[in-house]
Order: sequence, then structure tokens, then C-alpha cells
Amino acid sequence: MFDLIIRNANLPDGSEGVDICVSGGTIAEIGPRIEAVAKDEIDATGRLVTPPFVDPHFHMDATLSLGLPRMNVSGTLLEGIALWGDLRPLLTREALVERALNYCDLAASQGLLAIRSHVDTSDPRLVTAEALIEVREKVAPYIDLQLVAFPQDGYFRARDGSKSLERALDMGLDIVGGIPHFERTMAEGKESVEALCRIAADRGLPVDMHCDETDDPMSRHIETLAAETVRFGLEGRVAGSHLTSMHSMDNYYVSKLIPLMAEAEINVIPNPLINIMLQGRHDTYPKRRGMTRVRELMAAGLNVSFGHDCVMDPWYSMGSGDMLEVGHMAIHVAQMAGIEDKRKIFDALTVNSAKAMGLEHYGLAKGCHADMVMLQARDPLEALRLKATRLAVIRRGKVIARSAPRVSQLMLAGRPSSVDAAAYAPKLPGGV
Ligand code: FE2
Repeated sequence: MFDLIIRNANLPDGSEGVDICVSGGTIAEIGPRIEAVAKDEIDATGRLVTPPFVDPHFHMDATLSLGLPRMNVSGTLLEGIALWGDLRPLLTREALVERALNYCDLAASQGLLAIRSHVDTSDPRLVTAEALIEVREKVAPYIDLQLVAFPQDGYFRARDGSKSLERALDMGLDIVGGIPHFERTMAEGKESVEALCRIAADRGLPVDMHCDETDDPMSRHIETLAAETVRFGLEGRVAGSHLTSMHSMDNYYVSKLIPLMAEAEINVIPNPLINIMLQGRHDTYPKRRGMTRVRELMAAGLNVSFGHDCVMDPWYSMGSGDMLEVGHMAIHVAQMAGIEDKRKIFDALTVNSAKAMGLEHYGLAKGCHADMVMLQARDPLEALRLKATRLAVIRRGKVIARSAPRVSQLMLAGRPSSVDAAAYAPKLPGGV
């Protein structure tokens, strides 16, 4: 007897009428109409069951701090960094832990069960690292949390930035971060990439850098990051987050850059909500979108995944822990509205981001962790369009969150008595 069977599910790959049998927190069987019994059964009634959402780029030390100690008036990246600098000395471990746990509650309810968070290591107190290590332990039963040692004020630019970063890694942070475009000069930015890749290679850790988060087409640290990745044999273990300068780069230069990034197997992590909000701020009109070249990078075989980056913090006053909101924005900003385009966007929120984070036993296959989300949608395209309600979130075979379907009652003579938005889409070949 299995612990749980989910019956009649649609899967992200388009298969329908699938049963998923769970035993001991693992997917034991998956296929059409499995003859078996279980202690518990959930009828998916032809709705989408997907592996959980994965956010490969977030700032859990800053989340939910909106308004502390004041609002970002200009709405720019640089004022956000300055504001964070004002808040940082006031941070306490207790408040950081409380806000992060609150965010993780929200994330779990949205089926977001793996998050990579950058952790600012610029303040030598390292209260951020202490707090997030505590949170990583506390949420481990329901969220895989990876922590990046992130020298927000610059590895060289901040006083003792290099020492603080190494101490944070000694404390147990998982990944080496960086911010080369924020160092004092291009040369120091390049030097920081080299130094940080060396640290990662020596310690056997992955790398994830905020890289070229600027509209300056000459900000080319991604080239150095890719070259150093190859030099240190770190292929597949390095992420370039943001890469917004690629939006504005010369096309000929990019035609050489993308193959180098592919050679280095760079994981590309744009952040659509933040990129469209913060980039192009020095432009009058026309204003650049600023997000990196998602379609071209995907076409070159690079692993592209999307991050949420910020939720209600000094940089972004919006956000809800909903990765479908991130994907919804990505469809618009990258202008990827075709059926296959949208399937790729959904993958970028799930399987691609799991790959970027190096998650093991992720997916809907025999032997994978029984981690799943049932949505009020038939397929990934509908899920993205509706930012669909998470009817059930399952972690290691146990339901950890439930939501009622979003259905409106209608009081109109001669019309139906209720409206389920998910029931209105015309059925198209291959999706909605
Ligand atoms: Fe970020």
C-alpha cells in the first residue's frame, strides 16, 4: 500500500490522466491508471501537477523590510543600495529571522520549495549570515535554502569586504557571490571575478555573481566570468545573475560572447520583475527594457532560469513569492508569447532553476522526491496566464499547504451562477 496516490493529473510535458504513487516521501510509481491503493488519495481531476517552483535568485536578508528606515524615493538600484546601507547597521538577528521565516511561509503556500538567497556579507558583524544559517536549518523540512556569500558593497570596494566574505564562507554559506560592476573600476571588477573564482575553486564551491546589472554596454564582466569558469574547471557550477548589460551590447560582440558562455556552461539568471523596474532609468525616451537576451541565450543551449530577486524591500515594493508572476512578466519583457515560448518560460521557473541550483532528486519521475504542486489550471500555459491558485502543495509526500479554488459567484439573470476563470480558455492544439 502506498502512502499517497494523486490520480488523473496533467503533467507539464503535456501527458494527461497520470497517476502518481508516493511511498516514504519518494515517487514510487508514475503512469496512466495505476492499479493500487494508498492511505490517502487526491483526485487532480485533469489539473496540472508540477514539480515545485524554484527561485534561484533572492535576497532573504532584505525581504519584507519595505519602509525601513524609509522608502526608496527615486526607485533606482543605486538608491536601493544606499537605503540598504542605512538599514544594515540597524539589523538584528531576531528581526532578520522573523522576516525570513514569514517569507518562507508565503513561499511554501505558493509551492515555492527551493530558494537560493544572496546574503550580504558587507557588515563585518555578519548578523545576516548568522540569521540566514539559522533560517536554513529551520525551514529545511519544507524549503531547500541555499545561501550565497554576497559582498553587496564590493569585494574590494568595501573595507574588509574580502575578509568578511571569507569568514561568511567559513561559517557555512554555500556559494561564492560577487558584484564586479559595483567595484571602483572595470579593472577591479575583473580582478574581483578572478579572485572569487579562485576562492570557489579552492573551496570546491559553486559561484553565483550579480554580474553586469547595468545598462552600460561596456560592462563586460560576464566575459571574464565565463573565461575564469573554464580556467578553473568550474563549468556548469557558475551562475551569472542579471546580465542586464547584454541587452545594450553591440550585436557583433554578443555573437562572440554567447558561445563563450555556452562553453563555460554558465547558468543564466535574469530577474524580470526587477530588471524591468530598475533598468533603463538613465534613459529618457525610448527607454530600454534592460532584461538580458533570454531567447538568444536559450537558443544557444544555455540554462536560463528566472529569479524573483526582491519582495517588498529597498529595491522593490511589490512581489508575493509567486514564481508564476515572475514568469508572467518574463513572457512580456522577453516577448516570448508563442506556445513553445511559454513552455520554455515555465521550465525556467521549475526544471531549469532546479538545475541552476544543482538540486538532486527533483522532478516527476520514479525515485524523485515526492515534492509537487497541484494548480487550478490544465497546463503550464494556463498556469502562467492565470497565475493559478495552488490547490495543494506537497513536500516529501505530505500536503503542507492547501488553497480553495478561485471561483466567483455570479448574480446575473440568464448567466451561469459561478465563474471559474480556468474553465473559459479555448482548447488549442498543444495548450491554451
Ligand atoms: Fe539580486
